[in-house]
Amino acid sequence: MIIFKRPADLRSYLLAKETPRQATGFIPTMGALHSGHISLITKARNENQLVICSIFVNPTQFNDPKDFEKYPSTIENDICLLEQSACDILFLPSVMDIYPNGIDIIRQYDLGPLERILEGQFRPGHFQGVCQVVNRLLEIVMPGKLYLGQKDFQQCMVLKKLISLLGIDTEVIVCPTLREPDGLAMSSRNLRLNQTERKTATAIYHALLTIKDNIKLGDTRLLTQSARQNLSEAGFKVDYVEIAKSETLEILQSWDGTTPLVTLAAAYLNDIRLIDNLLIQAS
Ligand code: PAJ
Repeated sequence: MIIFKRPADLRSYLLAKETPRQATGFIPTMGALHSGHISLITKARNENQLVICSIFVNPTQFNDPKDFEKYPSTIENDICLLEQSACDILFLPSVMDIYPNGIDIIRQYDLGPLERILEGQFRPGHFQGVCQVVNRLLEIVMPGKLYLGQKDFQQCMVLKKLISLLGIDTEVIVCPTLREPDGLAMSSRNLRLNQTERKTATAIYHALLTIKDNIKLGDTRLLTQSARQNLSEAGFKVDYVEIAKSETLEILQSWDGTTPLVTLAAAYLNDIRLIDNLLIQAS
């Protein structure tokens, strides 16, 4: 694996290599890699000639400065995991490389309602920051395929929107959420959970599973209400538990029995914020 720190060096390498855009797969990450990230690398490896991963803890997407400061960093281990999964290139830019004009001058992207609901409502500015960094990374890497995890369902929708808004020639491939044996969605933030919090954390998955298993035609509000209540009783501070149309993320309070759905949750255990979601198809 070759490691590039400077965008110009990576660009010249890619130009000289002449791998077709369509055969280049890209996986942007913020590091502290786990098997969830690696599953994206493995899928990209199977589908491309060239696989590029980036690690960059993007300051503009953290609406909470403490979350940014405490974001885990395990770079040596990350490099090992990427080597083992046959990643070709690791891009490790600095803040200056990504934001040469500083992080305060932020271009605004018109993301519509997607930006105001769910994560957008509870993390103002978060998706603008995600778009900022991914736009810049796509300009540098110019991949044919962008691999994203369903774990961040709304992020996948936002980035599809960004790509279509800007007419970027990159296909988005959404990959399934990898989970721990007890159901907890793998996440870099799980590293910050203590033993007790780690045991409690699995309740998010169970709350979503209960919604998925019990959803019926008609009013769905009791289901989401009782999920919120169960999580609160387990010790979470709940941001949201909702059911939405999986195609548009429009939040629903009643189901027609056929529309494909997704149920999503975000909640804090002490100061650690966890998110998860499950798709629901009519049976
Ligand atoms: P990060 O949280 O590091 O995640 C990088 C990618 O890995 C994202 O596409 C995410 O959805 C995916 N991922 C995380 N946990 C996963 C799991 N358990 N199973 C499958 N995929 C998983 O998401 C970001 O970084 C950033 O917002 C980024 C897109 C890099 C922009 O800064």
